Amino acid sequence: MVLERDRQQARDLGRACPAGGRRFLEIGSYRDVSTCWLLENVLTHPEARITCIDVSFQPVFELNLQQTGCAAKVEALSGPSYKFLRELPLSHYDFIYVDGSHMKRDVIEDAVLAWRVLKRGDLVTFDDYQMTDSAFIAGLYGEKGPEVAIDCFLSCYAGEYRVVHKGYQITLESSRRHEEAGDSGSGIPMGLKKTLWRIGKAVLAASAALVVLVVAGLLVSAPVAATGDGRRWRLEALRRRSR
Ligand SMILES: C[S@@+](CC[C@H](N)C(=O)[O-])C[C@H]1O[C@@H](n2cnc3c(N)ncnc32)[C@H](O)[C@@H]1O
Repeated sequence: MVLERDRQQARDLGRACPAGGRRFLEIGSYRDVSTCWLLENVLTHPEARITCIDVSFQPVFELNLQQTGCAAKVEALSGPSYKFLRELPLSHYDFIYVDGSHMKRDVIEDAVLAWRVLKRGDLVTFDDYQMTDSAFIAGLYGEKGPEVAIDCFLSCYAGEYRVVHKGYQITLESSRRHEEAGDSGSGIPMGLKKTLWRIGKAVLAASAALVVLVVAGLLVSAPVAATGDGRRWRLEALRRRSR
């Protein structure tokens, strides 16, 4: 049975998904309502692929997929998102749908790690952003559910995204290269790293030139000084100049 909640989710996904996107990632697939909808409505290109991550895929997941006739487009990774998100290629996905754990600490981790594997200019949608109205959810996840975690992400990554849609779900478009935003992997911003590299190379070249000059100077003056001719020659020159 397709619930009204699922229809709404499909409508929101439809609004968020890039038409030409080929590489999708879904965190939290459960019984794959969202996966099947994406396969049937967005991932229609023969080369389109979706990677699905879930700690426990429901038994109907496989069955529903077979019914779409697109099972070959799906890569299912069974395990926690924090593990797989660290292994996926950086700046790779056209669209990421985050609907896994709804614990605040997990949502913020999914957001940060998903941001790294998202391509610039592409989209990430968080489901259940405004999951605030249920006492059940409030009891489980804290007063504001995923919203607190996502708002924290929005604050920390300000300037790197554009909010495309904000409602029950929230969709962000990545607006800067992760490298430009200082994500060089070493904690040193990429721009600073390049400048330091250039300065290092210049210092090295100048030191090498200095060493060559000093060695050349020593080679030229050493034999003359050793014979004493150098001193005589210098005295001659001084005498000539004083006349
Ligand atoms: C709300 S359901 C996903 C619904 C699905 N998107 C759909 O439309 O049918 C959340 C799913 O996230 C999975 N999940 C929870 N914590 C997870 C984690 N740390 N890593 C990966 N999946 C997780 C659960 O097993 C569950 O299947």
